[in-house]
Amino acid sequence: MLYDQLKTRRSIRKFKDQAVEQEKIEAILKSALMAPSSRGRRPWEFIVVTDNDLLSQLSLCRDHGSAFLRGAPLAIVVTADKEACDVWIEEASIVAILIQLVAQDLGLGSCWVQVRERFQTEQKKTEDYIKDALSIPNQYAVECIIAIGYPDELKKPHDEDTLLYEKIHFNQFSDQR
Ligand SMILES: Cc1cc2nc3c(=O)[nH]c(=O)nc-3n(C[C@H](O)[C@H](O)[C@H](O)COP(=O)(O)O)c2cc1C
Repeated sequence: MLYDQLKTRRSIRKFKDQAVEQEKIEAILKSALMAPSSRGRRPWEFIVVTDNDLLSQLSLCRDHGSAFLRGAPLAIVVTADKEACDVWIEEASIVAILIQLVAQDLGLGSCWVQVRERFQTEQKKTEDYIKDALSIPNQYAVECIIAIGYPDELKKPHDEDTLLYEKIHFNQFSDQR
């Protein structure tokens, strides 16, 4: 059941030195291509990175929060044509979380690396650094990188008792529950 998967979903940043099988990569990518999108415009493009040198390069895309890409066997860079769609951020985010959930369903772990609004250095945007490294044309915006691999760390599932139920409001936004 998807709910059980969501309870055990955690961000995984340590990966085994083990390649992700081609069939699994294909399943993840096909799932991404089936994602819902506004007016069915599907503005995304995905760059599948398995090359170790490129993964090392991508690991430097942020001053912190991206180093684990170096130890990942696979990363999927989620981009979207921002000229083709005014809601590209929503489109790209939906696809990114689908990639993470399908990866988990296949026994893999993953973690999101934020790209938008982040910097590699004081002068250079993370997005521009990635575009240079992967030859991404200018009209495409880079939303995030999803690092994927076989988990080499164990993380506790979410505890239902500690969920922030106070964030849920019924009928009216109010403090009363
Ligand atoms: C929009 C977004 C941006 C994130 N950016 C990063 C990131 O740049 N680096 C990182 O290590 N984790 C990143 N994460 C993962 C979060 O840190 C993680 O989801 C959060 O700490 C909760 O932990 P959990 O996923 O294990 O439940 C991001 C997650 C989201 C949804």
